[in-house]
Amino acid sequence: MNGAIFFTSKYGSTEQYANWISESTGLPMFNMKDRSAHPSKFDYLILGSPIIYYKVLNHKWIAKNLSGILGKPIVFFTVSGAPAGPKLDGWIADSLPKELISEMHHIALRGRQSPAELTWYDWLMLKIGGLMNKDAEASKEELRGFDFMDHASIEPIISRVRQIQSNMLQSTI
Ligand SMILES: Cc1cc2nc3c(=O)[nH]c(=O)nc-3n(C[C@H](O)[C@H](O)[C@H](O)COP(=O)(O)O)c2cc1C
Repeated sequence: MNGAIFFTSKYGSTEQYANWISESTGLPMFNMKDRSAHPSKFDYLILGSPIIYYKVLNHKWIAKNLSGILGKPIVFFTVSGAPAGPKLDGWIADSLPKELISEMHHIALRGRQSPAELTWYDWLMLKIGGLMNKDAEASKEELRGFDFMDHASIEPIISRVRQIQSNMLQSTI
């Protein structure tokens, strides 16, 4: 009955959430870049990824490891500027395999973006995106950055992990 957190992060906010989830649950956490860690070794998984350019950043890792992921309880948390809603659901549907989407429990967290930390390319792309975005709030966030990091927002993930653990315990009795 062992679980683990696998995450990827470009600017650190998804890693920060993975750390908080690990502290609260005691589950080990692995960066998806660490090739020595395999999701197939665990009974349930917490997968975390930021949304970068309208895509789930870890989609290639997911495709590569799909056989070791499917068929077990999965909590998938995304970290994005956009809140939960149809826009985010559409990006997820465009990035991840349908069979995973139908099995996983998705939880949307909101992240952080600081213009001073961005690579030159990302800074330019977000400036262009912000100037062209018709959604005034999203445009402001792209241009000026934002910080929606919130420790309390991991609570639904912690509850879900407890539920998975209790279900697994019941099934072994
Ligand atoms: C280059 C770039 C592209 C982004 N694209 C999106 C996007 O398409 N949709 C969105 O909601 N947020 C977008 N964001 C916001 C990120 O999802 C947010 O900053 C997140 O906290 C980044 O996670 P990380 O710090 O783990 O890399 C983007 C951020 C950056 C830097």
